[in-house]
Amino acid sequence: MKQYDGKTVLKIDNLAFAAGKIYGLIGPSGAGKSTLLRILNLLEPPTGGKIYFKGIAVEGKAKHLLNLRRKMTMVFQHPVLFDTSVYENVMYGLKVRGVSQREAKRLVEQALEDVGLAEFAQRNACSLSGGEAQRIALARAMVLKPEVLLLDEPTSNLDPANVAVVERSTRRLNEKHGTTVIMVTHNIFQAQRMAEEVLFFYRGRLVEKGPTQQVFHNPEDERTRAFIKGEMVY
Ligand SMILES: Nc1ncnc2c1ncn2[C@@H]1O[C@H](COP(=O)(O)OP(=O)(O)O)[C@@H](O)[C@H]1O
Ligand SMILES: [Mg+2]
Repeated sequence: MKQYDGKTVLKIDNLAFAAGKIYGLIGPSGAGKSTLLRILNLLEPPTGGKIYFKGIAVEGKAKHLLNLRRKMTMVFQHPVLFDTSVYENVMYGLKVRGVSQREAKRLVEQALEDVGLAEFAQRNACSLSGGEAQRIALARAMVLKPEVLLLDEPTSNLDPANVAVVERSTRRLNEKHGTTVIMVTHNIFQAQRMAEEVLFFYRGRLVEKGPTQQVFHNPEDERTRAFIKGEMVY
């Protein structure tokens, strides 16, 4: 449960994500999707209730929380890159984690290759287009081989070619590394392409969760159906 200024913006009785799956989170704007991602990322504590990661309650010492937080990475709609080279941007998290120079170099080169921007390594990150910047933000996340990748509308401002790269790289990370992917998207086609399971949120409540095909073709809740058909007024 999450409240801001006494107002409840998210109230979920019970929700579990299975390791290694790709989840799509959909719902109208203001439904609480981003709030849920921030709570899952341990950026913000819930106002009430508990978070468990692999069966262990998330609480206690800062060092323990930091260790947990490092197993997850989040990519936002608007990437925030440092005003240095693309290479340094992708390298940053590995440096912080004390990965050896040699190994880090290998991982960074591989990640840049993966998002199709190997030749951009020495470019200044601030000179990139929106789509390129988002691919770098994804490379920066992928290089850490997170157990959980949280994506908050990562392709909202991108053209189809860049969307395809982001989707492909995300899927590859999931397949190769078993990373659990939790992706907020306003694009229901993207949810259909990417997700094994879809969760529909409405006014801070989890209305429906199920296999993607079922939620899209045979939803249990009338509100889910209305949202998917584009008939929901909000
Ligand atoms: N830091 C905050 N302070 C106050 N209200 C917030 C804050 N963050 C989000 N909210 C409110 O919580 C609700 C859910 O927001 P959000 O999680 O961003 O929805 P979504 O991502 O589904 O569009 C909204 O009503 C929003 O205004
Ligand atoms: Mg949001």
